[in-house]
Amino acid sequence: MKKKYCSVFSPSTAMEREDNFESYWQFTQQHGGTLFEGDKDLEKKRKTLKAFKDNPVQLRTPLADPELFYRNYVEMKDDPATLDRKTAMLTCMYKFARHEWVGIKGAWDVIPDMENSHTVEDKISRVHLAEEFCHVRLFDEILRTFGLDRVEWVPLTPVMEKVYEIFPRLPGVLMDSPAFVTELMGVTFYFHLHALFDDVLADEPEVCERVKALLNEITIDEIAHVGQRRNFIGPIATKVSKALVGPFYTMFFNDIPEFKQLFDVKQMIRDGKSFDFNNVPEHMIERSWIPSYCTI
Ligand SMILES: [Fe+2]
Ligand SMILES: [Fe+2]
Repeated sequence: MKKKYCSVFSPSTAMEREDNFESYWQFTQQHGGTLFEGDKDLEKKRKTLKAFKDNPVQLRTPLADPELFYRNYVEMKDDPATLDRKTAMLTCMYKFARHEWVGIKGAWDVIPDMENSHTVEDKISRVHLAEEFCHVRLFDEILRTFGLDRVEWVPLTPVMEKVYEIFPRLPGVLMDSPAFVTELMGVTFYFHLHALFDDVLADEPEVCERVKALLNEITIDEIAHVGQRRNFIGPIATKVSKALVGPFYTMFFNDIPEFKQLFDVKQMIRDGKSFDFNNVPEHMIERSWIPSYCTI
């Protein structure tokens, strides 16, 4: 098949990036609909989540031991090797989503709200964060699909919470590359998680379909975020970002013991470095956004 897109690390000019910010801004407004700032929510995403909640799907066989999840989801207390794959997959997913939640919670209070956003970049960043809050609600719904309705979103240690609050205040030169690589890591993880669903949930076809649909809603946004965060960086920072993929993914995934057990981390790093949108299914591309300089 002929390639339609090129590497996310492809070069771009300052002028191209300016045009792409405008193009992303047009995209994101129609993609999410009205921003409900007080609720950290978006009109269309709220509707989508409600449609899922109004039509719940349940496991054919309930989790054998939900307490195993509750005991290990915030911090691993048992030997991870003793967890069954379903439970390990769920604790792993929660831990990844929790980092995202802490990051956006810290950022929401320090970046300008929509009324005080005077540049396209600021407006984009505000809507971007609201979308991330929607992702946490979607993850919460994935966990509820497994009957886990007592999940709490727990803050990190005070020191780590501070780190996440300081991060969005850093100048762009320090913040933009890690922010881009973080979005790329999210997309890489979601594609691997999607494949893992097929494997681990082979005996639960309805739940498998449902959680894939919930995850797809997140992934479509994240693919657009990868392009959008890429748009903040010039040629040098793009090279720096590519070099950061290995160390960044390794550091993050090492922190969550379930990763080694469930995923091929080396393959995830390779996928991050070679990411070029060509493997994204067409139904996702249609609803997402890709920078013009990554299109052939
Ligand atoms: Fe997200
Ligand atoms: Fe994101």
